[in-house]
Amino acid sequence: MVQAQAPLKIEAVGTPAALMAEAAEKADEIHQALATPEAYKEGAAQLKQGASLIAVIGQALAEHPEDSTLKAAGPSIRAAAITLARAGSYEDAQKAWPKLEGALKGEVSADVPAEFNWGKLSRMHPMMEEMNGRAAKFRRVLRRPKDPEADSRHVMAIALGAMATHADTHEVKDPNDLPQWHALAAQLHEHMAKAAAAVRSKDIETAKNEFTTGMDTCQKCHDKFQD
Ligand code: HEC
Repeated sequence: MVQAQAPLKIEAVGTPAALMAEAAEKADEIHQALATPEAYKEGAAQLKQGASLIAVIGQALAEHPEDSTLKAAGPSIRAAAITLARAGSYEDAQKAWPKLEGALKGEVSADVPAEFNWGKLSRMHPMMEEMNGRAAKFRRVLRRPKDPEADSRHVMAIALGAMATHADTHEVKDPNDLPQWHALAAQLHEHMAKAAAAVRSKDIETAKNEFTTGMDTCQKCHDKFQD
């Protein structure tokens, strides 16, 4: 089964402005990791995580019900980010960067279809690592909230990761387990989207409760599906 459209609601996760801010921040990190071979060696894993998240954001912008300056370039952002996430060397990553940089400025590549299988936006490993890293960052935010917009983007990123995870069912070996996989990923999406909304409205207590409930689904899914 091909899921050519987001199975869960994108607009619950964030506005195009929040998605674009997140993509810009990740692109900045990627650019820094490409500065020298040493920086790349240090930052290659982070680069893959960042590019994986940008791929999801590109598709999310393309399918978001709200228009934005990057809606048309969304599929190009997705395509360039996927190439970069899969680059196996410093040279390949460097070669892939200009397309992503251009797409994030709104340049539309020819022959890039708008529709895409959400299950193929990211490999599972970097997305899991990104969700893990953002959860750690969000725990610090809960202790000391600073900027509602920037703070909320940690849980927004997890909600985006949940959408990609929902569609990427290759780890489900028994088809009878598919409903459980989908339910857990959908719960993660729902609670992290609610946590993000709560941070934006400066309701840290609700954000904490939603985040904690969301994190329970990580454990439940790993108990069932992680070898
Ligand atoms: C719907 C199921 C599901 C959910 C929800 C889920 N994970 Fe995972 N996770 C997996 C599976 C399956 C693996 C093993 C992947 C593999 O072996 O490549 C995994 C692996 C991981 C890994 C190890 C890295 C790796 O790829 O082997 C980390 C870290 C991780 N998950 C973090 C998280 C966090 C944090 C959350 C919640 C915010 C989460 N996961 C939610 C299914 C899930």
